Amino acid sequence: MGKVIAIANQKGGVGKTTTSINLSASFSVLEHRTLLIDADPQANASSGLGLDPKTVSSSIYEVMIGETPIREAICPTNVPHLDMLPAHIDLVGAELELVNFSERESMMRRILDEVRDEYEFIVIDCAPSLGLITVNALTAADTVLIPVQCEYFALEGLGKLLNTIKIVQTNLNPELNIEGILLTMYDNRLRLSNQVLEDVRAHFKNFVFNTVIYRNVRLSEAPSFQKPVLMYDASSKGAVNYLNLAREILQKHQVVSENKEKKDGSKK
Ligand SMILES: Nc1ncnc2c1ncn2[C@@H]1O[C@H](COP(=O)(O)OP(=O)(O)OP(=O)(O)O)[C@@H](O)[C@H]1O
Ligand SMILES: [Mg+2]
Repeated sequence: MGKVIAIANQKGGVGKTTTSINLSASFSVLEHRTLLIDADPQANASSGLGLDPKTVSSSIYEVMIGETPIREAICPTNVPHLDMLPAHIDLVGAELELVNFSERESMMRRILDEVRDEYEFIVIDCAPSLGLITVNALTAADTVLIPVQCEYFALEGLGKLLNTIKIVQTNLNPELNIEGILLTMYDNRLRLSNQVLEDVRAHFKNFVFNTVIYRNVRLSEAPSFQKPVLMYDASSKGAVNYLNLAREILQKHQVVSENKEKKDGSKK
């Protein structure tokens, strides 16, 4: 069964989409079949992988309201082993329309159930909001990965996000775990970057990934070439950082499932 990771932080511009695209591509390059879901009306993840949000005929929106079967809306990408469920601008309207559906918070979970077996990882790029679509993503997810930018006010709003995660855990998805906090746009020459890194590690300890994403211009250039950074400049710092992040998650995942097997084995 595919592991579903939501990439969320309601703060804008912290690296959610960059992380969604490049973590998904890294899983894929490591030969793990991955589905990337664009759950943001800005549709940056879709356009960053070459799917034009103005012309995609079926997006996550039509799938969520039951107009299109999920398999019809999933598109292949130019990265082997990576598929995408794109977004388009009408997702803004979906937020309002979904309010009228029963079980409106678990619609994404229901549609993902149909394809979960076909992927090893499903990565959801969330919008900078804690609205209904993001709540749907958290309800569908096994874990949430929180990118935090190494800058002033890095931790601003994190309390609110953690609170929303708690509410989802209590009411909608008791299995939801935190995958980790990811420090992004790190610059080791800046005292401020180092200060944020130290503060976040002191405060959130083991919840923080060992891998840190450096500020790297290749990461910001790649989307205009409609490629993940691995296919744009495989030797860049950004490409190496995201591959390391994928490996760190894979390793953690392996340790968890080995422990689970041991536990299950000792029960028998
Ligand atoms: N490590 C990095 N190094 C350099 N530039 C980066 C890095 N990560 C992200 N960026 C750039 O910073 C900007 C914001 O990143 P991104 O779009 O990933 O954030 P986001 O959290 O998805 O934003 P939004 O909240 O609007 O969805 C983009 O222009 C992106 O190219
Ligand atoms: Mg984004």
